[in-house]
Amino acid sequence: MIRARITGTGSYLPEKVLTNFDIEKFLDTSDEWIRTRTGISERRIAADDENTSDLATKASERALEMAGVRPEELDLIVMGTITGDYPWPATACVVQVNLGAVNSGAYDVSAACSGFIYALSAAADRIQAGNAKKILVIGAEILTRICDWKDRNTCILFGDGAGAVVLEAVEGENGVLSTHLHADGSQLELLYQPGFSTKIVLSVEAIERKEQYLKMEGNEVFKVAVRSMTEAGKEALAANNMTSADVSLFVPHQANLRILEAVAKRLKLMDERTYINVDRFGNTSGATIPIALDEANRAGRIKEGDILLFDAFGGGFTWASALVRW
Ligand code: UT7
Repeated sequence: MIRARITGTGSYLPEKVLTNFDIEKFLDTSDEWIRTRTGISERRIAADDENTSDLATKASERALEMAGVRPEELDLIVMGTITGDYPWPATACVVQVNLGAVNSGAYDVSAACSGFIYALSAAADRIQAGNAKKILVIGAEILTRICDWKDRNTCILFGDGAGAVVLEAVEGENGVLSTHLHADGSQLELLYQPGFSTKIVLSVEAIERKEQYLKMEGNEVFKVAVRSMTEAGKEALAANNMTSADVSLFVPHQANLRILEAVAKRLKLMDERTYINVDRFGNTSGATIPIALDEANRAGRIKEGDILLFDAFGGGFTWASALVRW
């Protein structure tokens, strides 16, 4: 049996740190409110001359180095992002040229906070079907550029960053065991960026209405996120005849500490197996899972044969899970 095995991980976080105390200086909020409602203390902000492709390229170089894979060996680059460099073409194409991955296809996946698992799923399926041997999967975002920094309901949550993994075709039992993808577009306006594209085109009026910024009904999203991530986590375990006792590391999407603790509790993973870094980086959407995975990996928290559960929820709505044997 051919499986898609993760042979390298990498991440990159911009240098600039924005703490809750920094935000207090220009917004009607407090460190205390942000920490108790979200668990976030600080987040990273990309430099003015840094683009999403730059963050993604740095994370990818680190993942490729760990895997010992040269860029020209890559068959494909799949990137989860909702804050690409351009409306089109795909930011994966910018990363492709930055890396010198001259033999690789490249495309983006737009699934918001579920983007990395959606991208991983597409890549793992392609490897298992025998159509690729080495694929780079990326999650990268500069969300702070689509936030309204006058809207305290949203801007306090988000940060910038990138993570990447190298997937390679291997014989055996180690690798991606399953992925499950879901979507429900009926409530998309609870979490979305209205402009600018073909529905709401760029105009002075649309800018005055602030259509360029991310919008979210936080309270509603919170409830659906907990329910959906719990279901997706259970689905992944059931599909592999496993229980939470089999899981060595749970890497949930880092949206809000209260959400991930509620999900971990429902999945019986409310202990040191649940990886948390939302306090330091906030919500980096499609980048949270590969960043957390890379941190855990480089800290020596993962060993061969470990079972890892990835679980995410985000705009669309989309939600997804993946079970991986390391
Ligand atoms: O990545 C996946 C998608 N995103 C998410 O999963 C995020 C989901 N939602 C959330 O994380 C939470 O709903 C928030 C953190 C956004 C908000 O927390 P909440 O406990 O749901 O608060 P709330 O929206 O019910 O607001 C409570 C109060 C309100 O005041 P009133 O109406 O009770 O007087 C807000 O105006 O807190 C107020 N508030 C703030 N106060 C200080 C909202 N934002 C702030 C703020 N600082 N930054």
